[in-house]
Amino acid sequence: MNNLTKLFQLLWGDYLALNPDAKRIFDLLTERGEQIVNDHIALRTFNEPRVDLQVLAKPFLSEGYEQAGSYQFPGKHLDARHFEHPDSSFPRIFISQLQLEAFSPELQKTVTELLEDAPEDMAGNLHASLSGRPWNLSFETYENLRKESEYAAWMGAFGFRPNHFTILVNSLNTFPGIRELVEFLKENGFEINASGGEIKGSTESMLEQASTLANRVAVTFSDGVETIPSCYYEFAQRHPMPNGELFSGFLAQSADKIFESTDKR
Ligand code: NI
Repeated sequence: MNNLTKLFQLLWGDYLALNPDAKRIFDLLTERGEQIVNDHIALRTFNEPRVDLQVLAKPFLSEGYEQAGSYQFPGKHLDARHFEHPDSSFPRIFISQLQLEAFSPELQKTVTELLEDAPEDMAGNLHASLSGRPWNLSFETYENLRKESEYAAWMGAFGFRPNHFTILVNSLNTFPGIRELVEFLKENGFEINASGGEIKGSTESMLEQASTLANRVAVTFSDGVETIPSCYYEFAQRHPMPNGELFSGFLAQSADKIFESTDKR
């Protein structure tokens, strides 16, 4: 098995530990005879040089991935890039990072202290995005981060792990499109993120996306165990560009709303 296939298996296992709903959805679809294809895997980080987007991207670049689109989310102080592999059977990798300088000195100080415990050689480690949460934090610190940024709080609580996997709806045979898939998931009791509408994007914008609301899991903080939102499952249907090829990028406006799938409710 090659390095990437192995890495994706480990990322999937790590993700399912935080998102048991994803396993239930995966199984429901597999039982219908579907073969699941991943559209993309999303990773999160901070723009601190030792752990930033480029650092998380490096192992993927050395395994043959190439940089594709870049995106800005000014309302959330995030920027992101996506990476593609020449072998299209490998999923896109979507990496976002929080722009720390846009936040209060308190938040910056908290994050800097957390990152002191981050692994030394993230850039040289193919498994950097599986480092988990190398630091300790209190629930009070988590709540303080959340006042300024849900994203910062999520990173604080979970660290370096996949935030979500995304099913390529085009590869499903028993659903005509994303609407039917979303209806099926709702009939089976899953909650869909309705921020910006259940289906984000349109045929005209060449990408439609939906996601579950994040699972809630028990997380151990230094001052006790609390149940908080973890990871969600996303669904993407791609539409053809004028030249007939499927659109391969992302829409910042849609992704902006999908980030909210991990917000505390
Ligand atoms: Ni996504």
